[in-house]
Amino acid sequence: MKTDHQLGDLFYPERVAVIGATNRKESIGRALFENIFNDFEGEVVPINPNYDKVLGVKSYPDIDSVPEKIDLAIIVVPPRLVNNTLRQVGEEGIKNVVVITAGFGESGSKGVSRETELRKIADEYNLNLVGPNSLGLLSTSVKLNATFGPEKPLEGSVSFMSQSGALITAVLDWARDRGIGFHNIVSLGNKAVLDETDFLSAWENESGTSVIIAYLEGIEDGSEFISTARSTTKRKPVVMVKSGRTEAAARAVSSHTGTLAGSEQAYQAALKQAGVLRANNVETLFDFAEVLRKQPLPQNNEVGIVTNAGGPGIMATDALEGAGLSLASFSDETLMKLDSSLPNESSIYNPVDVLGDAGLDRYRKVILALIDDPQVGAIITISYPSAVLSYDELAKELVEVQKNREKPMVSCLMGGSRVKFAVDILQSGDIPNYFDPERAVKSLGALNRYRDIKEREYYPPETFSVNKTRALEILSQVETRKNNRLGVEAMDLLETYGISIPKGEIVEDPERATEVASNIEGKIVMKIVSPDILHKSDIGGVKVNVARDKIREEYEDLIVRARNYQPDATILGVQIQEMTDIDTGVETILGMNRDPQFGPVLMFGLGGIFVEVLEDVSFRIAPISESEVREMINDLKSSPLLRGARGKKPVNIDSLVETMQRFSQLVSDIPAVLELDINPLVVTPEEAKAIDLRLTVDEERLGYES
Ligand SMILES: Nc1ncnc2c1ncn2[C@@H]1O[C@H](COP(=O)(O)OP(=O)(O)O)[C@@H](O)[C@H]1O
Ligand SMILES: [Mg+2]
Repeated sequence: MKTDHQLGDLFYPERVAVIGATNRKESIGRALFENIFNDFEGEVVPINPNYDKVLGVKSYPDIDSVPEKIDLAIIVVPPRLVNNTLRQVGEEGIKNVVVITAGFGESGSKGVSRETELRKIADEYNLNLVGPNSLGLLSTSVKLNATFGPEKPLEGSVSFMSQSGALITAVLDWARDRGIGFHNIVSLGNKAVLDETDFLSAWENESGTSVIIAYLEGIEDGSEFISTARSTTKRKPVVMVKSGRTEAAARAVSSHTGTLAGSEQAYQAALKQAGVLRANNVETLFDFAEVLRKQPLPQNNEVGIVTNAGGPGIMATDALEGAGLSLASFSDETLMKLDSSLPNESSIYNPVDVLGDAGLDRYRKVILALIDDPQVGAIITISYPSAVLSYDELAKELVEVQKNREKPMVSCLMGGSRVKFAVDILQSGDIPNYFDPERAVKSLGALNRYRDIKEREYYPPETFSVNKTRALEILSQVETRKNNRLGVEAMDLLETYGISIPKGEIVEDPERATEVASNIEGKIVMKIVSPDILHKSDIGGVKVNVARDKIREEYEDLIVRARNYQPDATILGVQIQEMTDIDTGVETILGMNRDPQFGPVLMFGLGGIFVEVLEDVSFRIAPISESEVREMINDLKSSPLLRGARGKKPVNIDSLVETMQRFSQLVSDIPAVLELDINPLVVTPEEAKAIDLRLTVDEERLGYES
């Protein structure tokens, strides 16, 4: 991405040069020139040494020969000529460039080095470069279609970036039918210079754009993206389809978190933190874009449903919960109004069933009652075709009722050709219509989520005072190891970041074991300490509540067990640890795995041995703020267990929250920590305590700061 976030007049040039424009039919150079030539409000200049004129317009042999100032250069020359051409463009002082030509990073090693060279040139001349391997860009306010696709979009306020050029052409035609208009569209191509983050920040401050939508296969710089999107999404909604898998980290994972935190989890967490609404498919992407552009945000999560049939009303009701919505309970006043205006057989409770013989009048009365009820946040009007109801009249009524009212409405006038004209009426009144009640509900769900995103306050993470130098020292013990793993012998690492651990010590002989145990007040736990033993309890390597006169005996037993398991295992000793009262607490897991795109992905869940089976875990990208930590905890289905279930006392959630913030700081501060699992982190009514630890270290990064 570019660092200055200044796209200038990339989308608003006055004069465009097409380098590689030709007269040759069915060539990209011609299609692109023709698209611009046909509609563009400004001037377009062809560059091609083989022609005097392209489509009747005077052509120049190279960019240097054009007497006027060019604001945007589009390059469609063969791959081997691109970089030279780009240099000429840079020399001319032109800042905005789109490279349409393919044959770069997407196509083998020669292409990769060509792209590296291209990036260097773009850097040298500080170019706003789109592509290479891009379909081009569109800017409807100046009637610029700088693509080689056949479609012209409607003018509107949705701006769209896509990593697939094909998808752009496909959706333009389709979006026109749905009355969705665009402001800017860009095909990102290989994202050699400008990427999704640049366009987010450009469109954030651009008055012509009200909704940003994106189709992405990957994100270039995860943390830049999150911090930019956090700000963009406060001002306008961003909806994204993210497809494709990112390459998993090349190293083998050896932690629970590593097993569970894949790139999908990282994306999910990042988009949530960034406030980006995620759509699972292109249809949903446009459903969300449409409703977000057209409808006001709801005041609350509660939905009023009016229908002339039971079935679709139930379908809508069923979909509410999954969309983060609920069925509104009406005010007494509303119930009275409904009671006096509906026949006895209808249901005046939500969903309101006006019955199959309902005409316009019944619908009108219900909708007017619901729109005036402050307990109703949004309204869905559902209807199946009936002989006593005109869809067109109902559509007009809905548009009329919503005028000047700040309450979102969507409709499901179900049908095919019968509904066509009504849909046009609804479209002109900005009310989205869906065949399927579930889609209507999901769209309202997106509106509702966006209200939360807009309202939420983001405070940067707290910084605790810690002993980082000591932490790095502790990690450096890995240098003398045959692998890059550390276990409980690195427990003190947690203490340097203020995370509480039980009293304890690692000892190398039974005498010392007895001595250490005598200094511990509570019950005693003993564990084998060996870098070759990943799961200590699997080999009987953890002994809880050891009788004080059995310490010597148990010491010997632990060593024997380790030897039996692996005769040449490195044994660092036996850990003598104070026992935590697990019965009053909850065993949780707190972990981190480093993602290639987003960096440290935090995982929190209920711990112990079932973590992989239950998979009740939540993810965030570190560093995280206190409120994000609390959200992360509340995301767990099992979070009520922490608040006291089945007669248990609630645990100290504040202590847990602080522990998680400190953990987040640790993994953000020290990039040498590749994976880190605290399992269990026991949270009791008193405090959160780390009982066991496992981590892997990147020795090469030990010397570096984050
Ligand atoms: N100090 C302790 N206090 C209470 N329970 C403990 C303690 N240490 C271990 N345990 C119990 O033993 C289990 C396994 O111990 P742990 O140190 O996590 O080893 P591992 O995960 O390698 O098997 C823990 O999940 C916990 O239930
Ligand atoms: Mg453990």
